[in-house]
Amino acid sequence: MKKILIIGAVGQIGSELTLKMREIYGNDNVVASTRKTEPTQKIKESGPFEFFDVMDKQRFNEVCEKYKIDYIINMAAILSAVGEKNPMLAWDVNMNGLINVLELAREKNMKQVLIPSSIAVFGPETPQVNTPQETILRPTTMYGVTKVAGELLGDYYVRRFGLDVRGLRYPGIISHETLPGGGTTDYAVAIYYEAIKEKKYTCFVKEDTRLPMMYMPDCLKSTIDLFEADFNKLKHHSDFNVGAMSFSVAEMADSIRKYIPDFEISYEPDFRQAIADSWPDSVDDSAAREEWGWSPDYDLDAMTKDMLEQLEKKLK
Ligand code: SER
Repeated sequence: MKKILIIGAVGQIGSELTLKMREIYGNDNVVASTRKTEPTQKIKESGPFEFFDVMDKQRFNEVCEKYKIDYIINMAAILSAVGEKNPMLAWDVNMNGLINVLELAREKNMKQVLIPSSIAVFGPETPQVNTPQETILRPTTMYGVTKVAGELLGDYYVRRFGLDVRGLRYPGIISHETLPGGGTTDYAVAIYYEAIKEKKYTCFVKEDTRLPMMYMPDCLKSTIDLFEADFNKLKHHSDFNVGAMSFSVAEMADSIRKYIPDFEISYEPDFRQAIADSWPDSVDDSAAREEWGWSPDYDLDAMTKDMLEQLEKKLK
């Protein structure tokens, strides 16, 4: 039986991934951890939970020993917008945390490490439409710099030490359980909350800003499908492009108006506009499709319908 440690298990993705993986692999086999944020009751009650800081290698090692961990999923990261406010914090968490994960996994001969990457690895010189798997990686954010370095490190550990490291470049992730923590794509979540609460939203990027996005059920599916993929069939390792949908803010607003006809949107772009402009519109994910059978389920309207239904229940 796999013994899985999810680091960053209280974040937007980690909180849902933990519950999903507990369903699949058994509650006791999925250990959730975080540095200091208090987890939800659902996470605390459904399986093992530990507070620790990945910078504290001794304590990290003790947790791995205690549960005989052989798989690590590292969801802890400082995202693009917070990273631009505090670049050294982004470097510390994203790089020093990651190297401890890789080193501990190598020392303990673990079976697999999964480290997500992001569309933030791309930059203004990258082709913007249907961005290829192999392309120019010159990001302009600290978050992007750490994600490029993380991909290279992951591939290095595969080549140099034979450690099984995997990663995928998440687009903006939209969900209704846990709020995202300080990314540029957060507007694509906030718009639904405000549509339900206020019937209006002021967006921090312009109406024609178009980015690759994915609904949480597809995010969980892509993560678990890559986690389960046959290592021998992988030609890439730490850097899979994964696409699902691509739309502008104006198109999101139109999709919401199909359900809330009097929804209003206005625009007040801030520093996050430049970050969004440096990222692609859409990505070519044919390597993920060929090597581990990736295929998304949700498009914009299907996601809008579900998001609004779920938030209606949650917020009213
Ligand atoms: N959602 C992330 C961000 O906006 C992108 O990976 O920073």
